[in-house]
Amino acid sequence: MTRERIVDGRPLSEVEETFNWSLRPKTLSEYIGQKTVIEKLNISLKASKGRGEPHEHVLFYGPPGLGKTTLANVIANEMGTNLVATSGPALERTGDLMGLLTNLEQGDVLFIDEIHRLPRVIEEFIYPAMEDFHVDFLVDKGAFAKTIKVQLKRFTLVGATTRAGFLTAPFRERFGIYHYLDFYPPDEIALILRRSAKILGIDVEDSAIEQIAKRSRGTPRVANRLLRRVRDFAEVKHDGRVRERIAIDALELEGVDGRGLDELDRKFLRIIIENYAGGPVGISALSASLNEETETLEDMVEPYLLKIAFVNRTRQGRVATNAAFGHLGIKRNGAKQQELF
Ligand code: ADE
Repeated sequence: MTRERIVDGRPLSEVEETFNWSLRPKTLSEYIGQKTVIEKLNISLKASKGRGEPHEHVLFYGPPGLGKTTLANVIANEMGTNLVATSGPALERTGDLMGLLTNLEQGDVLFIDEIHRLPRVIEEFIYPAMEDFHVDFLVDKGAFAKTIKVQLKRFTLVGATTRAGFLTAPFRERFGIYHYLDFYPPDEIALILRRSAKILGIDVEDSAIEQIAKRSRGTPRVANRLLRRVRDFAEVKHDGRVRERIAIDALELEGVDGRGLDELDRKFLRIIIENYAGGPVGISALSASLNEETETLEDMVEPYLLKIAFVNRTRQGRVATNAAFGHLGIKRNGAKQQELF
């Protein structure tokens, strides 16, 4: 079952993406968090610029909403080149990619989101483009079929994926640089929220920022979404100023609890705890109980629960930790304890 989640790290709509555009950092110096990644990018960008060469191909991987697309744009901005964006599922035929590649200028960035979903024929078509900037394009059919070699300008491929393990080894090896983006700690999310509130002209108390930050699952896209919901609530129910209590009430209304979990996360934990005595339980059993695809659970639910140590993955399956029992107010013997919000 597909449901819309306010805590989803993926964009909920085109409108949201357009809206978020103004909040995205355009340069490395504006970027908050991911310190090591930023430091390394700063070096590789400076070195490429110094040599007058395009930047090497980069693969960003990690959970959704953490800045992979933003960083692709930052690379193009810092290099002073253009960015052309597409995604794995959007590229069905080699011709689709051919059009994009032949239009690239020297140093331009070709950004492919969800690159693990690129069809195999496209993946193989892209190998020579990555290696020595040419493609072998098949023209005509049957007896008249022939491949023509098309030379391309030297471009930078930036790939983004939530599943680096799903890329074939030869594809992965063609990227010169890999960067893993991890969840942001609450203090960095708070800085991002303050910056966003300033850009959007939202009057918000520091304590309210902290409340939103700890419910944002370490994910800037979620943080900015929650900020918008809280602003609406403050404008309609109060005088527009976002105070701590208002932030808590607004997010409680959205079903987001004190650790940023929503109903699906809590159901996931409750099934492990109540139906399987805390685990271990296999992902397919959880998928059947929740009526959710295993991929949804593995990409959208588990990563954050693992990060905050509410769940452990063992060889036998998923296990709920004491922290998860505590959060849901369930004693190990099954008795209910405290409130969530
Ligand atoms: N907005 C979204 N992500 C951001 C980040 N990492 N730094 C600054 N602003 C952001």
